[in-house]
Amino acid sequence: MLCLVHGANTEAMIRVRAAVADDLPQMMEIAKRSVTAAQWTPEQYQKMLSSGRVVLVIEDDARVMGFIAGRGAAEEWEIENVAVAAPARRRGLGSHLLGEFLHHVRNRQGKEVFLEVRESNHAARKLYEKWAFIEAGRRKSYYQNPPEDALILKFYFPQMG
Ligand SMILES: CC(C)(COP(=O)(O)OP(=O)(O)OC[C@H]1O[C@@H](n2cnc3c(N)ncnc32)[C@H](O)[C@@H]1OP(=O)(O)O)[C@@H](O)C(=O)NCCC(=O)NCCS
Repeated sequence: MLCLVHGANTEAMIRVRAAVADDLPQMMEIAKRSVTAAQWTPEQYQKMLSSGRVVLVIEDDARVMGFIAGRGAAEEWEIENVAVAAPARRRGLGSHLLGEFLHHVRNRQGKEVFLEVRESNHAARKLYEKWAFIEAGRRKSYYQNPPEDALILKFYFPQMG
């Protein structure tokens, strides 16, 4: 998907596309610098691309600035990771990624999408809230370093008819 994002004095070309192996170093760098993103090993990243997951990157003028990854089982899908490079945040890139992910899921007849988020991760919670995710549960002390509960958020595709 191609689109233009208008900044104060600039017009940048934003593109969301499927991730390929060459993107992995940039994706890992973005995740490493995003403490609240899921932290995966290089092997887990490699496996991600060959396991039928939906893995999308967002490019700004041909540079990977963020990614989203998730998997589906029948009608239920999970967002496993999403991160945008810190200097590129609050410009709509995370929202673009999430929208494209939901579009992919809908095309695969998915009915709902869930994810876990740290309770204190207000930026991510606001993003999901904006996309009409709702709180569906809590996993006590789910995260380590620092220990914290996870909120389970769910998105339901509107059913026609
Ligand atoms: C969460 C994250 C992906 C959002 O990416 P982003 O590109 O900054 O998000 P967007 O610019 O598309 O923001 C969309 C909306 O989310 C909300 N939002 C995003 N960042 C926010 C912040 N720091 N504070 C408050 N609301 C925020 C706002 O409602 C925003 O809409 P607005 O800018 O019109 O007000 C990004 O902050 C990130 O990479 N965080 C680190 C990794 C992480 O925590 N991942 C989630 C794991 S569950």
